[in-house]
Amino acid sequence: MELPIYLIGYMASGKTTVGKLLAKKLGWPFVDLDNAFEEIYGCTTGDYIREYGLEPFRHKEKACVEKLAELPIQKVVYATGGGYPCWEDNMECLKELGTSFYLRWTPEQLTKRLFISGLTARPVAIDGMNAQEGDTEEERMLTFVRKHLAERKEYYEQAHYIIDAPEQLHESNDEEIAERIYRLIQSHRRNPSAKK
Ligand code: S3P
Repeated sequence: MELPIYLIGYMASGKTTVGKLLAKKLGWPFVDLDNAFEEIYGCTTGDYIREYGLEPFRHKEKACVEKLAELPIQKVVYATGGGYPCWEDNMECLKELGTSFYLRWTPEQLTKRLFISGLTARPVAIDGMNAQEGDTEEERMLTFVRKHLAERKEYYEQAHYIIDAPEQLHESNDEEIAERIYRLIQSHRRNPSAKK
């Protein structure tokens, strides 16, 4: 299995929480690429998008991932921003840089998780929701997430591994997902000739 590990998936799919838990199990460092963006450019991803728009953000985000990939350490778990794999050739680049895991949830689950984890840092979700018709915020968000995920899934599904989330939303979901990925990595270490 090529290292580092990249966790990818839609906003609120748990990349950061799962990444931290997974890194702890492995004893490796964890890097949240949204936080790295903020450290490098001195501005949160949300503020950057609100100030300059999505396209300039994607260029900076790409440069940030490439900069970190130059570091001479392999044993790292990265959580990417939700839109990163779906821009230009980013998914192909990620696949060459390491091993990618897509945390897959349904639009219904993601909508619930978005409201639980918070929208403030996510202008893409707020703008998307506001552009939809519907009586409640939850209905408008669900309409947006359905459309948006349908556009993004062709990129996400190119990941080396797809990790389907449990059907029922529960506090322990992220821990369960981290444990599954950890076991996959461990079984691969025991049997390195296996594919991927
Ligand atoms: C984005 C997701 C965000 C952040 C930015 C854009 C997206 O990261 O990179 O607001 O386009 O899906 P999270 O997936 O951590 O929310």
